[in-house]
Amino acid sequence: MSIAEIYETMSYGPAPEQSDYVHEWLGAHKDGFKLFIDGKWVSPIEGENFIESHNPADGSYLGKVSVAGKADVDAAVNAAAKAFPKWSGLLGHERAKFMYTLARLIQKTGRFISVLETLDNGKPIRESRDIDVPLVARHFYHHAGWAQLMDQEFPEQEALGVVGQVIPWNFPLLMMAWKIAPAIAAGNCVVLKPAEYTSLTALYFAELCAEAGLPAGVVNIVTGAGETGSHIVNHPDVAKIAFTGSTGVGRYIREATAGSDKKLTLELGGKSPFIVFEDADLDGAVEGLVDAIWFNQGQVCCAGSRLLVEEGVAERLVEKLKIRLNKFRIGDPLDKTMDMGAIVDPIQLERITDLVNKGAAEGAEIWQPEIDMPENGCFYPPTLITNVSPASIVVREEIFGPVLTVMTFRTLKEAVDLANNTQFGLASSVWSENINRALEASSMIKAGVVWVNTTNQFDAACGFGGYRESGFGREGGKEGMYEYMKPKGEWLGEAGNLIDAPTLIEAANDDARKGIDQTAKNYVGGKQARPDGGNTLTVFTHDGKLAGRVGEGNRKDIRNAVESAFKNDGWSSATAHNRAQVLYYIAENLSYRENEMIERLVDLTGVSKKAAKSEFDMAVSRLFSYGAWADKFDGAVHTPPLKNVALAVHEPIGIMGIICPDVMPLLSFISLLAPAIAMGNRAIVIPSERFPLFATDFYQILETSDVPAGVVNIVTGNRDELASTLAKHDQVEAIWYHGSKDGSAMIEKESAANLKRTWVNNGKARDWLSAHGEGRRFLREATQVKNIWLPYGD
Ligand code: NAI
Repeated sequence: MSIAEIYETMSYGPAPEQSDYVHEWLGAHKDGFKLFIDGKWVSPIEGENFIESHNPADGSYLGKVSVAGKADVDAAVNAAAKAFPKWSGLLGHERAKFMYTLARLIQKTGRFISVLETLDNGKPIRESRDIDVPLVARHFYHHAGWAQLMDQEFPEQEALGVVGQVIPWNFPLLMMAWKIAPAIAAGNCVVLKPAEYTSLTALYFAELCAEAGLPAGVVNIVTGAGETGSHIVNHPDVAKIAFTGSTGVGRYIREATAGSDKKLTLELGGKSPFIVFEDADLDGAVEGLVDAIWFNQGQVCCAGSRLLVEEGVAERLVEKLKIRLNKFRIGDPLDKTMDMGAIVDPIQLERITDLVNKGAAEGAEIWQPEIDMPENGCFYPPTLITNVSPASIVVREEIFGPVLTVMTFRTLKEAVDLANNTQFGLASSVWSENINRALEASSMIKAGVVWVNTTNQFDAACGFGGYRESGFGREGGKEGMYEYMKPKGEWLGEAGNLIDAPTLIEAANDDARKGIDQTAKNYVGGKQARPDGGNTLTVFTHDGKLAGRVGEGNRKDIRNAVESAFKNDGWSSATAHNRAQVLYYIAENLSYRENEMIERLVDLTGVSKKAAKSEFDMAVSRLFSYGAWADKFDGAVHTPPLKNVALAVHEPIGIMGIICPDVMPLLSFISLLAPAIAMGNRAIVIPSERFPLFATDFYQILETSDVPAGVVNIVTGNRDELASTLAKHDQVEAIWYHGSKDGSAMIEKESAANLKRTWVNNGKARDWLSAHGEGRRFLREATQVKNIWLPYGD
């Protein structure tokens, strides 16, 4: 018998990982796990109430975790608030030492943790041992480094305070590390709630925190279900919420935190494309698919769940895939030879089954391999679905299970169109041996991560997070650290009338009302456009005289402006040099109008000529600043472990709504518009409601400065009414709002529908003349980071 023949006849024997010592630990907690608050283990204040935890592979009982009520969440938030001054005041080096100790403890207890994770979640031990736990340790090491470098790398930033964190069940330990490590590195104290199905490793981690001597209150772990999570979300003393989970709950959290001044990051669902061009290494792509959609039973937010394959190789790829799946091993997750383990809970199994059945009812063809399936436990076979279209339910909805849909394409453009035909934008994978083709597709795909000829790679140094309804904010890397900090002294305090300048219409005398008509129109698609409703608003000087009239824009005007921005997307792919030139050109053309603009400022706002000149000069300087930044706010090249480089590219967000304050109406208008367009966004700007004439005077400058049509659109009128239309518009991808506190709350709430990014002032004023009026803060808000992973070597 040849060696090859011997291999053919060999079958796998059982190779279970030992688990008795983990069961001993579980047994020691048989009366139920308590809550970890203020460095102590405590029972819920309002009486004991438990959720049971079961091993999804065989249904066996593992233990029960406490349900934290409102009083417990209050206690945890208080403990975190109490610990915050001291923790954030430590030298970065001191925090780094604690985090290093945690990283070491995770490594030392890695085997225990991976078995516990596998028992609780059902994922194969191969994955928890070789992927989850090493990544968790790496996350603490990496962020120990950021703690160490905080003063050098973030001198103008400070920690937020108490951070509330709610995580899902698919990567219980890893998501916990992604949340806790950057938060405490920056000096925050946390209250974290693990998912109700999978709380055990977070509770074990709490023991490690105690062992590491982490000061009481820095990390608090409260267990429970959605209600406990919502107590954290709604707690008034929480400065930030970080959430990973379903899009529905993400939307709820966006609405619940609207107007609360809480910072928010959401990492939500996905329906990520896996694109295979015909020049791809097909065998590599098959293994890639195994990692993309059968890793963690497909319960991965960035799972490559939509295979898009070039027509010429589709049949061959599917055939190879079927051969591979026919050798798949599914069963006891503690067995080291398993490809796939158990689905986390019967509820999820039901959800997967239901969605696949719905797909079948629509006419999709369902294929599953003929392999041994465990008789008991929560298992679902690897599944391939063909004969589907972009409208099929299984192609649209996140199934969150081991289910792959297959569609074909003929051209790169068609592949990208199909890839982007989703409300999500978390990740993607592109397979081609032609680097030009792969990178071209990578640049066109709307997703936070693109893996070229690889998939599901993660590293603490590379930011991870989504575009569109996959959420906002990044976890990992420098950009992830910014999510847990705020600029020192950014706001001046309550803005009051500085923002909401009282309209002087009441004060105006009748003579002024009768003045001649000089109605400035809107500016849409590079042209002056009469407002749809035909109504006008009167603008008065500071002492009540008629200054002019502007159109009263309405919903239709906003819709037209968005449409024009949508059509003219060339600006977003224009070269940075080209955008820089345009900004300098705007500055030059503005400077020709110095006298006229200064007079306007004096006349309208009543400031001195000297103050008006400072405002004007700073506006010109600011345009120069963003001309300068246009080709300098570059991304980074990361070198994650294994042979990989990851290109962290700064991309424009797309279409932005910008709502300007009344204070320093020329300078604030320029300070908001310039960074947005410098980074390649197209903007719909609502200028100061009280002093819109600076924006309307600006039309001629735009027209003579080579600004392409549709890049800047200006609609005048009632600020909050127009802002509300922008916030609800599905094609608008981000909103910057400077206005009242109520208006800020409205923007955040109404943006929840398509989960657009928002940046609001909560009624506070900014010193536009100072360093807080420009710079990287604005540029970060005007861009999103896409990480393109490029492996190299064999
Ligand atoms: P979920 O979003 O309900 O749960 C995630 C976390 O949020 C858990 O800790 C949960 O207790 C908490 N939570 C639930 N309701 C809350 C509320 N009102 N306020 C605060 N916290 C709340 O996810 P679920 O129901 O477990 O899974 C349903 C689907 O969600 C999955 O089938 C999948 O499609 C998606 N999902 C996506 C994840 C991702 O990583 N993007 C992770 C988990 C689920």
